[in-house]
Amino acid sequence: MAIQRTLSIIKPDATRRNLTGMINDRFEKRGLRIVAQKRIRLTEAQAQRFYEVHAERSFYRGLVAFMTSGPIVVQVLEGENAVVLNREVMGATNPADAAPGTIRKDFAESTEANSVHGSDSLENAAQEIAFFFSTIEICP
Ligand code: CMP
Repeated sequence: MAIQRTLSIIKPDATRRNLTGMINDRFEKRGLRIVAQKRIRLTEAQAQRFYEVHAERSFYRGLVAFMTSGPIVVQVLEGENAVVLNREVMGATNPADAAPGTIRKDFAESTEANSVHGSDSLENAAQEIAFFFSTIEICP
């Protein structure tokens, strides 16, 4: 299995409840290495651009408002099969559907305020990492 990188975001509902360390512990315990990390506050324009793929969806405006409502922690996670592994560690988008022991099952407040984001493919991971990080900020 190949070593991959994926983009992770710890969302405003989780930073508000001071859960960054608890969530990072989940990643590290499953063998995902945090090779870049920064805490930022997205502007409306940045959030709109990051979630552009959802622009036509009914939840888009609410999602942009939520993602700009407080600080987020953006991270690059590295490890074997990191894209799929991170999505397993996160759990389903809707916490009601998430498996026991996943981040979203244990911490998410709702489908929107679902504590974490993770890239859904290797191709999107590369784009999403480049959205937030330059290569010199990533330290494997
Ligand atoms: P994320 O993994 O960041 O990708 C898109 C986000 O949109 C998703 O997590 C949720 O935060 C949000 N989202 C997806 N579906 C819905 C929905 N039906 N209602 C509200 N928010 C949603």
